[in-house]
Amino acid sequence: MRTVKVAVAGFGGVGRATATLLLSRRERYRRVHGADVRIVAACGSSAGVADPAGLEAERFDALKDGLTGPDFVAASGADILIEAGPTDFRTGGPGLAYIRSALSAGRDAVVISKGALIHSGRELRESAQVSGAMLKISGAAAAALPTIDLLDNSLTGCKVLGVDGVLNATTNHLLDAMTTRGLGFEQALREAQAGGFAEADPRNDVEGWDTACKLLLIANFGLGADLTMHDLAVEGIQSVTAGDVAAWRAAGLVPKLVGTIAFEGGVIRASVGVRTYPPTDPFAQVRGKAKAIRIMTDGMGETVAISNGAEPLATAAAALKDLEHILVARAKGRSS
Ligand SMILES: NC(=O)c1ccc[n+]([C@@H]2O[C@H](COP(=O)([O-])OP(=O)(O)OC[C@H]3O[C@@H](n4cnc5c(N)ncnc54)[C@H](OP(=O)(O)O)[C@@H]3O)[C@@H](O)[C@H]2O)c1
Repeated sequence: MRTVKVAVAGFGGVGRATATLLLSRRERYRRVHGADVRIVAACGSSAGVADPAGLEAERFDALKDGLTGPDFVAASGADILIEAGPTDFRTGGPGLAYIRSALSAGRDAVVISKGALIHSGRELRESAQVSGAMLKISGAAAAALPTIDLLDNSLTGCKVLGVDGVLNATTNHLLDAMTTRGLGFEQALREAQAGGFAEADPRNDVEGWDTACKLLLIANFGLGADLTMHDLAVEGIQSVTAGDVAAWRAAGLVPKLVGTIAFEGGVIRASVGVRTYPPTDPFAQVRGKAKAIRIMTDGMGETVAISNGAEPLATAAAALKDLEHILVARAKGRSS
């Protein structure tokens, strides 16, 4: 039985959910992968905990001041970093230093925050290639909704002609409330904030930036593009009025905030904006906080996936899917 040591950097709602789910699956990892998977370190911004013998859940609340930072994680001897810090695509966020440190030392990385991948994605991919480390990003690229995996595995060999995605749960929830219950944008937003479905500062979601981040990751990591946020035309839903929604309803159309990747003259273009669909379209069925992706290919036509897993469990499960893919690949002695 091989021992696989995991460190978790960023220990908020998602980091803790991932660590807890990992512990509940240890028996599966032993049985299916012949691996004794241990969490040997976990940290937030100012405190952490480490034990080479492996941490149990009761130690997750006993973080000690000062045990944090990329060097702390490296010192834990982890084989795999799970990174779940805050997302900041303008600077790369604190996750960037952790991921850089892990990949350059040949440690595999399962990345859940989007910031570093947007800011320095090419550098990180190159670093992984040089060191032979694996870089997995399902948690960042719409989490439970399969995006990169679909492109990498299920559509192998096909030429991708276009991608559309309903990639942000909050905006889908808001547009759904406006459409089905006739609420105005501000009213729907206040209600969602009161229910914990929208952030106190909702701009990242409602202005389309979260959708743009996920779309860019799909383009760069799934389709080999090299886009930056400056290449994307981004519009959100903040200007959608009750009058717009009423007009779409009258026309039998359902609005969605959609990220679109298109190929124009061989050049990849990506944009985010509101698009409308007839009720028969699969995207019109994407209700509440669900997400969806539609990929058009030459060989397999349209492939549509819809996902509605509850957070943070769904994101934790997506990250641990990546972890298992790493266990399988390492058992075969290869990197990707
Ligand atoms: N929530 C979701 O459903 C969801 C879904 C998909 C992806 N994500 C992504 O997952 C990430 C985490 O989300 P969350 O909801 O768990 O956020 P959160 O509760 O705010 O947790 C963020 C964690 O990062 C830690 N952190 C901040 N700076 C750090 C540093 N320099 N070193 C180490 N840790 C640091 C924070 O530590 P302190 O507590 O000490 O400040 C906190 O533990 C975000 O990037 C988010 O975009 C979230």
